[in-house]
Amino acid sequence: MLMIMNNLDPKVAQFPHELVTYGGNGQVFSNWAQFWLVMKYLSKMTRSQTLVMMSGHPLGLFPSNPSGPRMILTNGMMVPNYSTRINYDRLFALGVTMYGQMTAGSYCYIGPQGIVHGTTLTLMNAGRKYLNVSDMTGKVYVSSGLGGMSGAQAKAAVICGCIGVISEVDPCVLQKRYDQGWVQEMIDDLDSLISRIRECRKKKITTSIGFKGNIVDIWERIKEEYEKTGELLADLGSDQTSCHNPFDGGYYPVQLTFEEAKSLIATDSEKFKELVKESLRRQVSAINYLADKGLFFWDYGNAFLLEANRAGADVGARQEGGRVVFRYPSYVQHIMGDIFSLGFGPFRWVCTSNSQEDLQRTDHMAASVLEDILEEGVPPLVEDQYKDNVKWIKEAASHKLLILLTNVKKSGRISTISIPSLLKSYRAEADRGPGNCPWHLNPGWRQSGSVKEKKKCFNRLEE
Ligand SMILES: NC(=O)c1ccc[n+]([C@@H]2O[C@H](COP(=O)([O-])OP(=O)(O)OC[C@H]3O[C@@H](n4cnc5c(N)ncnc54)[C@H](O)[C@@H]3O)[C@@H](O)[C@H]2O)c1
Repeated sequence: MLMIMNNLDPKVAQFPHELVTYGGNGQVFSNWAQFWLVMKYLSKMTRSQTLVMMSGHPLGLFPSNPSGPRMILTNGMMVPNYSTRINYDRLFALGVTMYGQMTAGSYCYIGPQGIVHGTTLTLMNAGRKYLNVSDMTGKVYVSSGLGGMSGAQAKAAVICGCIGVISEVDPCVLQKRYDQGWVQEMIDDLDSLISRIRECRKKKITTSIGFKGNIVDIWERIKEEYEKTGELLADLGSDQTSCHNPFDGGYYPVQLTFEEAKSLIATDSEKFKELVKESLRRQVSAINYLADKGLFFWDYGNAFLLEANRAGADVGARQEGGRVVFRYPSYVQHIMGDIFSLGFGPFRWVCTSNSQEDLQRTDHMAASVLEDILEEGVPPLVEDQYKDNVKWIKEAASHKLLILLTNVKKSGRISTISIPSLLKSYRAEADRGPGNCPWHLNPGWRQSGSVKEKKKCFNRLEE
């Protein structure tokens, strides 16, 4: 329940009133009735029951046992033969499927910090694999997106010691990431950006630059610079626009300003679609040119290569073993490594005590556990990954990251807040039902519920 409330907190979520936590359409539930039902089930269920969820819809409490999972959930299910965008959109509108992203519909979103670890490991592995270096100073990583997950890229670049250049079309998003310390510098014209990249490369300055503008402009300018000077200004590259949802605001085409794009989506969605496709073709064309000169580019699980291919861009698509593969690798399969199945991260802790001291202790405990394991000896296949983990944990505080921990009660060193009393208050809320929050079940909430009213509702639930 705490995690659901966190995913929907107005300070955390992208569009909390629409139940969207991040990524434009990553939802916790499809509608507010489901929210109330789930809160009720969670507050009443016993340890011998399992709650089964399907795309935000609670199927009910099923008899289970204390060692079984308390909840099982799936999101975004489609019958593969019918899994097309049109069918998905129709079924989503009917409320029978929902895109839960990775952590919105599974309730464990913790902001970009949740993905910094994975992004750092990806960058470190990419440096080793493609550039043959473990020290990444002076290397340039270019990508796009400073949103819910993509926002981690700039911080990860700094942790790795390289120069991160991340473009973002939405000025508010860029400002937010700068104010929160996720990016260290903001630049809004290409000339200054290029001279800053040159300076950082030359002096081996570690930094993260948020560029206010379109990623296509950066790639095309880096290509132009290569043509003029023979200097390759990007070593590693990726893309983290919300390309899984390219025509509804996930990807902004280079031909328009941010404001023009927002208005065209509403007035002429077909024209907008065409511009997105053309922009993707331009982006891939510049990346292909630079990749021939030594840039290493990969897909960041955002369907960039898939959508670029659909748009007619030359991404070297071919059939291999019954699957479509592309010229460029993908981060999980080819770069991040086998870390999920080998069981050492990316880890996620939830610290319910909310105490800084506990966070520090848990950092220390996690690092010393990993160091003990390293000392006992680990297979060479995973040794670097363990070292990366230790580096990440030890430097987390200096990078102003929180590392959160769960379930260390056994050690007796971590304080806990009283979960039963919280549950009691949620239960009382759930019993009183949506009547207390009129806008929750009101489809016209946008017009009717004032921001103050909505905040009051969230605050009360939070309390
Ligand atoms: N970080 C990860 O480890 C990871 C893993 C899997 C998938 N993804 C995918 O990455 C994508 C991004 O996720 P998110 O949560 O950050 O989404 P988001 O929508 O919060 O952020 C994407 C950002 O890209 C910006 N943008 C769009 N088009 C642009 C352009 N042409 N130039 C510059 N900026 C542009 C948007 O303004 C937005 O702020 C999603 O498709 C997500 O599924 C990320």
